[in-house]
Amino acid sequence: MGANSNRGVVYQGPGKVEVQDIADPVFANPAGKKIGHAVILKVLSTNICGSDQHMVRGRTTAPAGMVLGHEITGEIIEKGADVEMLNVGDIVSVPFNVACGRCRCCRELDTGVCLTVNPARAGGAFGYVDMGGWVGGQAKYVMVPYADFNLLKFPDRDQALAKILDLTMLSDILPTGFHGAINAGVGVGSTTYVAGAGPVGLAAAASAQILGAAVVMVGDFNKERLEHARKMGFVPIDLSQHDRLGEMVAQVTGTPEVDSAIDAVGFEARGHSGKEQPAVVLNQMMEITRVAGNIGIPGLYVTEDPGAHDKSAQEGSLSLKFGLGWSKAQSFHTGQTPVVRYNRQLMNAILHDRLPIAKIVNAKVIPLEEAAQGYAQFDAGVAAKYVLDPHGMLTAK
Ligand SMILES: NC(=O)c1ccc[n+]([C@@H]2O[C@H](COP(=O)([O-])OP(=O)(O)OC[C@H]3O[C@@H](n4cnc5c(N)ncnc54)[C@H](O)[C@@H]3O)[C@@H](O)[C@H]2O)c1
Ligand SMILES: [Zn+2]
Ligand SMILES: [Zn+2]
Repeated sequence: MGANSNRGVVYQGPGKVEVQDIADPVFANPAGKKIGHAVILKVLSTNICGSDQHMVRGRTTAPAGMVLGHEITGEIIEKGADVEMLNVGDIVSVPFNVACGRCRCCRELDTGVCLTVNPARAGGAFGYVDMGGWVGGQAKYVMVPYADFNLLKFPDRDQALAKILDLTMLSDILPTGFHGAINAGVGVGSTTYVAGAGPVGLAAAASAQILGAAVVMVGDFNKERLEHARKMGFVPIDLSQHDRLGEMVAQVTGTPEVDSAIDAVGFEARGHSGKEQPAVVLNQMMEITRVAGNIGIPGLYVTEDPGAHDKSAQEGSLSLKFGLGWSKAQSFHTGQTPVVRYNRQLMNAILHDRLPIAKIVNAKVIPLEEAAQGYAQFDAGVAAKYVLDPHGMLTAK
């Protein structure tokens, strides 16, 4: 890493990202305090996420000039004096959460809401609005703080490089889908509905399958994504047919309710008319989940949405049929995924060929310099998960 050698994806304002020269990472937190618990990574792979799209669509208060990227896998090229368990040359997965490992929440593995890494609210992340100002990793190099606590080291370098396209999903979407499935109570024989056939929906569906679900349905309007979901062994539910989801579920299972439901859509959800209806998925989940069932909600909801159509939604206030969920005694599980809770076991599932997640989400490698095209294609609804390749180490293979 020479002086000024770093390049990264920079948010320029609604609809626009650009790859630019950015500052080289340093051993300092966003407030400028020097830290010895960090490492500098050469980024081997870094993925574009639906969460990034909320910002790039102008649906958050993300400031222009922010370096994006929270899904990072890399090689340690420098380590701070206080890093004890990791070494230069280690290949590691970075949980998208920045977590201190010491606060009350981290000690309970609620790392999605670490109490010390973001002065504005609970929870930190790389390259994300309101998440503490940690520089993003859709870049050639990035700094990761609290390295001993946060990083998951892959046991063998060659094996890691051979499976990097699967392992790259450990930084976010695979644990996120898994967290959704666990929170939805998926177990052996469960009937499961996943809303959204994007990468998180597919990761949730794959998770439900390895947790033993009897049926995994995936609903969306996007025909290409539904067809891909079908090819991966899930039951596609084409929501463009009509708006009676329970009927479509009953056609598959014989009953209009499922044991477990997972919202992998979030606040930009569309209703049957094609118009945005931010509460539509949540309301459908309450309708189709059985009495006393669980609903996992990895789909992201915001406290401020400058792009929302009505005033209350702009303040994050949605028209929920909460009485329905209450009367059915359902449980709701929300929030940023605490990645460290799941990434080791999911890594093992990948390394032992139990979870071909790159294939399931249709991982597509593109050069870092083509990030803007990747963002545009993903936004257009292509059935793929875009993986950026900052050093040409993935495309070369
Ligand atoms: N909780 C977390 O830690 C976490 C982590 C990663 C992603 N996320 C969130 O998960 C969500 C999904 O991420 P993604 O990368 O798959 O995004 P994506 O935008 O690629 O996928 C969302 C899909 O939902 C579909 N959709 C829209 N309305 C729908 C409806 N009413 N019913 C069913 N499907 C509908 C869209 O057509 C699209 O295919 C996003 O909100 C993202 O921010 C949360
Ligand atoms: Zn993500
Ligand atoms: Zn903490």
